[in-house]
Amino acid sequence: MADEILKKVKSLYEKYPYPSRNVTRRKGMETYAKWVLNAIGEKDLDFFKGKFILEAGCGTGELGASLALCGAKVVGIDISNASLKKAEELKKRLDIKNWDLIQSDILSIAFSQKTKFDLVISYGVLHHTSNPKKGFENLVRLVKDNGLISIGLYNRIGRIRHRIKRKIVNVIAGENFEKRMNLARKLFFFGEMPKQGIIWLADKYAHPHESYHSAREVKGWFRKNRIKFISSKPDLGKMLEVSELSWVLGRRGAFFVMTGIKEG
Ligand SMILES: C[S@@+](CC[C@H](N)C(=O)[O-])C[C@H]1O[C@@H](n2cnc3c(N)ncnc32)[C@H](O)[C@@H]1O
Repeated sequence: MADEILKKVKSLYEKYPYPSRNVTRRKGMETYAKWVLNAIGEKDLDFFKGKFILEAGCGTGELGASLALCGAKVVGIDISNASLKKAEELKKRLDIKNWDLIQSDILSIAFSQKTKFDLVISYGVLHHTSNPKKGFENLVRLVKDNGLISIGLYNRIGRIRHRIKRKIVNVIAGENFEKRMNLARKLFFFGEMPKQGIIWLADKYAHPHESYHSAREVKGWFRKNRIKFISSKPDLGKMLEVSELSWVLGRRGAFFVMTGIKEG
């Protein structure tokens, strides 16, 4: 865990483990599994049954837990001890057996050569690393032939409004997380706590590092790594930049998910 970005990012999530949803029982967990199902362009929750799934950058684990409850065997990795601790508590609370949690960095991830997953998901993570493309390539190596990989990233165009706000906060408040959060509250929420809560506020306004990506760039990563593009959320038309522009105009797509299949 040598790099500076990793240290700073880890320190944010040690203090503000994300997303820290208030889950007390199994009921309702399907919502998270349905979110993943929609993100990968599948229709039936049975899709997950019996699948071996890696969630890279699992945070406090709500997505992974929901997939395990659908009958998948899930491995979640994350750099943040605090997040993994919360995920372990969730695992215990919901009595989930088929879900393993491991502390690991995507950029130096080490599984045995033989370990290959049917599906690798990584949502909202690679853009917080010092080398998202390398992280993606590391994850591709862990996908079985004909298996799926699905990544969610901040969009260069779609996130333009937020990028401006973030820049203002960072210039005025400096690096201190709480100063940034207090300033963001004052400037953008009339001094109130935003309805999404403090963890969300930290993730959106105190973050020490985020990068921005385009659908064309991710399609390039896919091509170079034998990943055939399957779907994007929001949907992409033929003219990628026009689609991205339509996302920003429709106030969608600040975060976009692209999914592909590893060609055998
Ligand atoms: C915004 S949260 C997303 C959590 C989860 N994927 C979700 O969508 O709810 C980003 C997570 O990525 C983790 N993370 C950041 N850099 C990482 C890295 N290099 N390797 C593994 N996890 C990382 C953070 O600790 C954090 O829990």
